Amino acid sequence: MVAEDSIQANFFSLTANFKTLFGVSLVGSGSAIPAQKITNDQLAARVETNDEWVKTRTGIRERRIIGPDDSLSNLCFQAAKAALEMADWEANTVDMVLVATSTPDDLFGIAPKIQAQLGAINAVAFDLTAACSGFLFALVTSSQYLQNGAFRRAIIIGADQLSSWMNWDDRSSCVLFGDGAGAVAIEATGSDQNALIGFKLKSDGARGECLSVPQEKDYVNLVGPFKNQIGRFSNIQMNGQEVYKFAVREVPLLLKDVLRDCGISADSLDWLLLHQANQRILNAVADRFSIPKSKVLSNLENYGNTSAATIPIMLDEAVRDGRIKSGDLIASSGFGAGLSWGVALFRWHGKS
Ligand code: UT7
Repeated sequence: MVAEDSIQANFFSLTANFKTLFGVSLVGSGSAIPAQKITNDQLAARVETNDEWVKTRTGIRERRIIGPDDSLSNLCFQAAKAALEMADWEANTVDMVLVATSTPDDLFGIAPKIQAQLGAINAVAFDLTAACSGFLFALVTSSQYLQNGAFRRAIIIGADQLSSWMNWDDRSSCVLFGDGAGAVAIEATGSDQNALIGFKLKSDGARGECLSVPQEKDYVNLVGPFKNQIGRFSNIQMNGQEVYKFAVREVPLLLKDVLRDCGISADSLDWLLLHQANQRILNAVADRFSIPKSKVLSNLENYGNTSAATIPIMLDEAVRDGRIKSGDLIASSGFGAGLSWGVALFRWHGKS
């Protein structure tokens, strides 16, 4: 009889070295950020903080916040449209629109709205929630449909508006986050051209309380003895130090596993593309693998932590300014609430 442990071990190594019917290729990117820009100094007019503290502890200088004339759905649409244009696709050839967000402006999901705006009339569209790991989880999820032959083209969007769920008087969290959206267009290819080389995704709900937006327990009388719960959520609740420790411990461990299973050494990576939470986390992960700073993509000084949007916004910026070139090998990791974390190794095959 095969031991449970050995089945488990084989399964996990398969996830990184999987054989698929088809490959997947990343061919387009786009991003959209809100117009309102708030600097650390401007925030200091509201909470007791200062530019020096925020820059030193996080690397963040300013963030973008959605104002009254904009919406998260609109940012998603703009980002997806730009990705579609870069991929040079007709909208009606898209089979799937997947939006990774924890802060939709409609609780039933915003992906169908984006699908309609794009004119992607043949696409199925739905949302996926995995907080700051959302984009990475969505990239892997949508790739499965392409790799097994069910779909040919997908648009994946990572977007969040954490500003709506912030306690703007809590200096330990409000300085960290911003709003934004990023998108990637992926296409099925021959399995020999597969660009999603390996991945691992992880969850640990037992540690979920260190970063959450829980429902508030508030009830109203319904009829007779019956009550119902009002749909209302609290602000972001975060134990910053625990989240920091989780990220600098778990991300390198998982990255090491994926690199090992794929037979790829850290020095052959062209780019390290981590969730943009804190420059100190980016530096700590890079140092563990002796990856030089020049290969660590970072733009969090301009946007802060935009949750599910950080990875696709950063990818799009580096593609459009010519840093990322076609064929480049990228190690990416998302991590955050859930707790959730994941690593994906992929090559960029789009514009360069
Ligand atoms: O997607 C994942 C989302 N979450 C994260 O990425 C959070 C990860 N954690 C972190 O990035 C860091 O833990 C923080 C940036 C949140 C905090 O940095 P830290 O080095 O862990 O600071 P700390 O919490 O230990 O606080 C140090 C001091 C405290 O004062 P005392 O008790 O030493 O007098 C805080 O009250 O800094 C104070 N402090 C601030 N001071 C000025 C906390 N926030 C601020 C602030 N401005 N904004």
